[in-house]
Amino acid sequence: MRHFLTLKDYTKEEILEIIDLGLRIKAEVKAGRFTPYLQNQTLAMIFEKSSTRTRVSFEVGIYQLGGTGLFLSSRDIQLGRGEPMKDTARVISRMCDMVMIRTFEQEKLEEFARFSNVPVINGLTDLYHPVQLMADYMTMIEHGKADNPVVAWVGDGNNMTHSWLMLAAKLGFELRVATPKGYECDTSVVEDARRFAAESGAKILFTHDPKEAVEDADVVTTDTWVSMGEEEEKEKRLKDFAGYTVDGAMMALAKPDAIFLHCLPAYRGLEVSEEVFEGAQSVVFDEAENRLHAQKGVMVWLDSRRS
Ligand code: CP
Ligand code: NVA
Repeated sequence: MRHFLTLKDYTKEEILEIIDLGLRIKAEVKAGRFTPYLQNQTLAMIFEKSSTRTRVSFEVGIYQLGGTGLFLSSRDIQLGRGEPMKDTARVISRMCDMVMIRTFEQEKLEEFARFSNVPVINGLTDLYHPVQLMADYMTMIEHGKADNPVVAWVGDGNNMTHSWLMLAAKLGFELRVATPKGYECDTSVVEDARRFAAESGAKILFTHDPKEAVEDADVVTTDTWVSMGEEEEKEKRLKDFAGYTVDGAMMALAKPDAIFLHCLPAYRGLEVSEEVFEGAQSVVFDEAENRLHAQKGVMVWLDSRRS
């Protein structure tokens, strides 16, 4: 049995196989064929943080696969009143067929997985957001940007950046990460990424100059400057990220046909200008829709790997 906790645990072949499966199921659905790959299965979805896309895409996804989704907010279940993760895991995994968790520490997710009898999927932690990257790469494939791309990240060194690092390092493409001083990526994630990059041939560059990252890039991407759980740092962060807005002038440094990605929710006027967000190069709503299709690939693939 496999879990989907970080792309660190996946090979290039597995990542591409899952995305391909998602694309095949997407094509079936677009042709009006809903195959019940996960008939009568229940996906438990535990949320310790807010969500629009993750909740809707997993709930609709499992429904379209012939199963049902169970939305469990930590505000309502005993987890929120202190029941241990390992007890919650042993109870839920006896009744449900798969579990998705959105939480704070990656260690909490890993603890749940250790005690779970069924596959566990990371629906975002402070460290990683791997299902988002499956949708992002699917979007790159559909927009013709998956052939040796140069991807530029402009912004915070956060869970999304770490996931991009893992994707680039595993698949072997070029990733340039521009963060302000003091907002660099987690050092152990960087070490892992460098190790995988040495094997795959990926080129990874870290800089404090967004222009250096974006120059001639095929894909430009960013994320909020204030992730969930960092709300108290908002005022300081907005000052420290001055000069990091992906605006028309910055986008003009990338290739003329470059695409703009953002996992959403987006804060216009901060990490991205209105003009770029709503502009012709922005494919953020294709990307958001692909959460549904990519995660079906993840769920059906995990189901196929059960012992
Ligand atoms: N991108 C993303 O995970 O969105 P939500 O927080 O709305 O789920
Ligand atoms: N980095 C953001 C991503 C939201 C989908 C956060 O963790 O809040």
